[in-house]
Amino acid sequence: MNHPASNIQATELMSKVPFNVEKVRKDFPILARSVNGSPLIYLDSGASSQKPRQVIERVSDYYSREHANIHRGVHHLSQEATQAYEDAREIIRGFINARHSHEVLITKGTTDGINLVASSFGRKNLQPGDEVILSTMEHHSNIVPWQMICEEKGARVRVIPISEAGELDMDAYRELLGERTRLVAVVHVSNTLGTINPVEELISLAHEQGVPVLLDGAQAVPHMHVDVQALDVDFYAFSAHKVFGPTGVGILYGKEDLLNEMPPYQGGGDMIEKVTFEKTTYNTLPHKFEAGTPNIADGIAFGVAIEYYCQFDEAEIQAHEQDILEYATEKLGEIDGLTIVGTARHKVSVISFNLEGAHPFDVGTILDQQGIAVRTGHHCTQPLMDFYGIPGTVRASFAMYNNRADVDALVAGVKRAAKMLL
Ligand SMILES: Cc1ncc(COP(=O)(O)O)c(C=O)c1O
Repeated sequence: MNHPASNIQATELMSKVPFNVEKVRKDFPILARSVNGSPLIYLDSGASSQKPRQVIERVSDYYSREHANIHRGVHHLSQEATQAYEDAREIIRGFINARHSHEVLITKGTTDGINLVASSFGRKNLQPGDEVILSTMEHHSNIVPWQMICEEKGARVRVIPISEAGELDMDAYRELLGERTRLVAVVHVSNTLGTINPVEELISLAHEQGVPVLLDGAQAVPHMHVDVQALDVDFYAFSAHKVFGPTGVGILYGKEDLLNEMPPYQGGGDMIEKVTFEKTTYNTLPHKFEAGTPNIADGIAFGVAIEYYCQFDEAEIQAHEQDILEYATEKLGEIDGLTIVGTARHKVSVISFNLEGAHPFDVGTILDQQGIAVRTGHHCTQPLMDFYGIPGTVRASFAMYNNRADVDALVAGVKRAAKMLL
C-alpha cells in the first residue's frame, strides 16, 4: 500500500491529463442511459453530481475485499481499511491545501459540518446579544443551524443584503460587522444563482475585527480551486457528492487552534481518550469530532473522486464550464419571456430562470418528459426566493461532463415547454 504522503507528491508531480469532455463523459456510466425514451441530459449536478466508474468500483471493491471497522483493530483487514480511510483524508487535505490532515474532519456532508460548528463553536462562544452574520443567498443548511443555536443562546442572526443581480452588498456587510459579531458564515458560491462571492474580502474584513469566518463550499469545490491557507478561512465545509463522490460524506476543515478550543459535537466511540463514570477525556484531532463508526467505504471513495477530478488541469475544466455558461446564457436569453435569475459578474455554471406565465414545476416536468433533468423550486433558499418575490426557479446546473449539445437540448426543451404552456 502506498504511503499517503508519497501519493500526494506523486499526484503533484504527475503531468495532468488533458481535459476532453467527450472522454470524460465515457467515465460516467449513467450518462449513457435513457430517461422517458430520450437520452439523459443531466443538468442537476448542483443538487448532486454523477459518479465516475472509478468511484463506483472503489465502493464495490472495498466491500468485496477490504471491509473491516477502522481505528480499533490489530488485524490485517482493519489496518488496511484504516490506512485507506486515512489516505483519503490526506488526499482531501492536499486538495484544499490544509496545513494538517487532522484539520480535515470527515463528516456526513456540508450540512453536518455547519451543524458541527454551530453546535460546538456556537454553543461555546455565543452569549446573549451576540451576532452571527449570514447572507440573503444562504442555503437553508447555513441558516437553520444558526437560528437554532442563536435562539438557544439569546444571540441573533444578521443578514448581508444582495443586489438584484445577486451580488453581496459589501458596504452593508462592513456596517454589520461590529463588536457583537462572533462569526461570519457565508456561502462561497450560491447554489441558486451561481454567484461567486468575494470571499477573500469577506474574510479579511472579518479578520480585521478578529471575527472568524465559515464558508459553505458545497458549490464552490466542483468548479474552482480552493486553497484554505491562501484564503485564510477559519472553517470550510463541503460534500463529496457534489464533487463526483458518494453521498453521505463530506469534510469540515477547521484551523487547528479553533478546533482544539472547541468541545466535541457528539459523544461516543473513537472520540474518547479515557472513559470512566466519573470523567471522560477526549481524543485528539480529528477523532475528537468523529464519534462512532464512520461511512468508511464512501470516505475512501471520496478520496478516489478527488483524485479523479485532480487528474485534469483545473484551468481547462474552468474554461470548459465558462464556455458552457456563456453559451447557455446566450441561447436561453434568446427565448421570449425567459428571465435569468442571478446575473452576477462572477458566476459558476449554474443558471436559474423563469418563463413568464409558467410555473417552474410545469417547465421542469415537461423537460423531464424529454429526458432533461433540471431542478425546480426554491432550491433550499426560501429567503432568496422571497427577496426576488418568486416561488421558485428552474435551475440548470452544469458540471465538467456537460457539453454544448446538452445546452442545445435544454434550449429546445424549454422552447417546447413554452409552446405547450403559454
Ligand atoms: C450551497 C449549499 N450548501 C449546503 C448544501 C447542503 O449539502 P448536503 O445536503 O450535502 O449537506 C447544499 C446542497 O445543495 C448547497 O448547495
